[in-house]
Amino acid sequence: MRIFFTGGSGKAGRHVVSHLAEQGHQVLNADLTPLGHAGVSDLTVDLTDAGDVYSALAGLANLDELELDAVPSYDAVVHFAAIPRIGLKTDAATYATNILSTYHVLEAATRLGIPKIVFASSETTYGICFAQGERKPLYVPVDEEHPTVPEDSYAMSKVASETTARSFQARTGSDVYGLRINNVIEPHEYAELFPPFLEDPSQRRRNVFAYIDTRDLGQMVQRCLETDGLGYEVFNVANADMSVAATTQEVIDEFYEGVEVRREMGRDETFYSIDKARDLLGFDPQHSWRDVLADPRGADRPQQT
Ligand SMILES: NC(=O)c1ccc[n+]([C@@H]2O[C@H](COP(=O)([O-])OP(=O)(O)OC[C@H]3O[C@@H](n4cnc5c(N)ncnc54)[C@H](O)[C@@H]3O)[C@@H](O)[C@H]2O)c1
Repeated sequence: MRIFFTGGSGKAGRHVVSHLAEQGHQVLNADLTPLGHAGVSDLTVDLTDAGDVYSALAGLANLDELELDAVPSYDAVVHFAAIPRIGLKTDAATYATNILSTYHVLEAATRLGIPKIVFASSETTYGICFAQGERKPLYVPVDEEHPTVPEDSYAMSKVASETTARSFQARTGSDVYGLRINNVIEPHEYAELFPPFLEDPSQRRRNVFAYIDTRDLGQMVQRCLETDGLGYEVFNVANADMSVAATTQEVIDEFYEGVEVRREMGRDETFYSIDKARDLLGFDPQHSWRDVLADPRGADRPQQT
């Protein structure tokens, strides 16, 4: 596929674009800064500028395409570019950047007839991650039906982006899939970040104790590109197990008093339900911190899948 990927120079995007390039796709990375990855073309684009977005989406992906009779059209857009949390820019700038860039990408892509758009939403839409004070989920496992009424500007921008995406899908019939991505972890970060999480699970409360490995996020985007005809859908994206050593029941006992537990859960099963992604897309995460670090509760514990 010829893929227009935004935000491919970032923490999550760099892994996903290289995964897609390895799968044989032709990827253009549209970002404010180049990635410089062999096999991926870079184009400097400011996505808050509508003209920039239209021009980029209608243009060449690389100079080799000069040999073709006409400029081909993109088969898919994957939109990851964003200010990725509160606290980096002002709240107002975070909101404005994220909703404007998402609007421009959706409008240009659908008007140009691109049939598949995958965009990064966030776990923060559930209102827990950046809540003032402690906020518990209404129920676990948290699935895509859980209310999304966050109070911070970043998560508001993601909820607004989902609403906008749903409307563009209704207007055009293109497939538009939103990914409510959990906390992104690169493979080298297990050794760096996880030992304190295993000691003190409270450090993962704001992420409902979940995480997503960049390689499994790459698989998820690939599954979205390979699955057509779903219309508009949002999907939680996380690994199958939790990012802490405590068992699911221990976390419920310590952190989720009063929270409805809607079904029986596996011993280390994530509270961030990926059932929908498994069912509709065949998502099957392959990685775990347990591949890198010894489980301090005992090496013989079988891994939850
Ligand atoms: N990192 C996480 O844990 C996490 C969790 C949930 C969702 N997400 C979402 O996933 C996506 C990727 O996150 P990330 O962690 O890789 O963020 P990142 O900040 O590392 O990367 C974002 C990229 O977007 C680019 N960008 C920002 N504004 C732009 C603009 N106006 N025009 C063009 N490019 C622009 C940046 O240059 C950067 O390369 C974001 O949409 C983020 O909200 C991230």
